[in-house]
Amino acid sequence: MAETADLPEREGVRAPGAPGIELTLTEAERGVLEDVTSRLARELPASAPYDLCREAPVTAHELPLRLRRALGELRQDGPAAYALVHGLAVDDEAVGTTPPSWGDGPARDRTRRQEIQAVLIGSLLGEVFGWRSQQDGAVVHDVLPMREYENTQINFASQEPIWWHTEDAFHPFRPDYVGLLCLRNPTGAATTVSCAADWDLGDPAFDVLFEPRFRQLPDHSHGVTGDGAERRPVLFGPRERPYACVDPYFLEPPGDDRLAGVLRRFYDTVEASLRQVALAPGDMLLVDNRSAVHGRRPFAARYDGKDRWLKRISVSRDLGRCWSAWSKDTRHVLVGDR
Ligand SMILES: [Fe+2]
Repeated sequence: MAETADLPEREGVRAPGAPGIELTLTEAERGVLEDVTSRLARELPASAPYDLCREAPVTAHELPLRLRRALGELRQDGPAAYALVHGLAVDDEAVGTTPPSWGDGPARDRTRRQEIQAVLIGSLLGEVFGWRSQQDGAVVHDVLPMREYENTQINFASQEPIWWHTEDAFHPFRPDYVGLLCLRNPTGAATTVSCAADWDLGDPAFDVLFEPRFRQLPDHSHGVTGDGAERRPVLFGPRERPYACVDPYFLEPPGDDRLAGVLRRFYDTVEASLRQVALAPGDMLLVDNRSAVHGRRPFAARYDGKDRWLKRISVSRDLGRCWSAWSKDTRHVLVGDR
């Protein structure tokens, strides 16, 4: 990312003090990751994805030290609100064509190594999980354009920007981190990230954002309605480096003009701090879903088998806290649609 280019390097990790950590795997580090991936691919049946979720936090101890240290820093609420890891192995030919829809069986088989790597790296931050209401409970999601969703606010859109948001903002068990591993991105469509540490919230008018006055309605991806959504703050935690939970597109507009005005100014502040990250094949971006928001710029999909294709994971710092939403078969799939 250009914004961090002038920062000093520490053992190849760009860094502390910056809102983002950037790390490029060396040849040797990539080799370690590849070896561990091969072992898991051999030992764990693809038909049992939740076994991978249970094994990955253990195997992740074998990942290269610099990677563990970088994500350890992100996990411990350091100054960084995202980590960008470069240099994962993605063989364009082996990955094959971008499928026309999520959950395509052969496409999933061709990208199993990347799915394992996404779960492994995500496991350095917590526990990877899926939702029963999304992509049939898969723990690794496909993010790709689908023609029928071109102009929507969900992951299969393309022409519409995805407005910046907290992932699953309406849900009490929303992920603490979101990971995006890039398989291909031919037009360089940018993911956007805005970090709370960059927001100038000095004006006392923003105090109201820390009060429980806002109703966050569900986005369209879980198939639920917002009946009974409680009023909550959109910011919480330390004032100088707050946590945020807001999806403006699905926030119920406040009835009162003053509140609406403050929200608009807050949105402008976040917007002004948006960084753009054009993920390249082999990049993985991990965003702290509490101290940063993310989105995506629009792009033109061609539906020619070469469109942008990412693998996405959700990570919870503590799935135990989510016990009331565990699905019958596994705690790694949460029931979000009730
Ligand atoms: Fe998102």
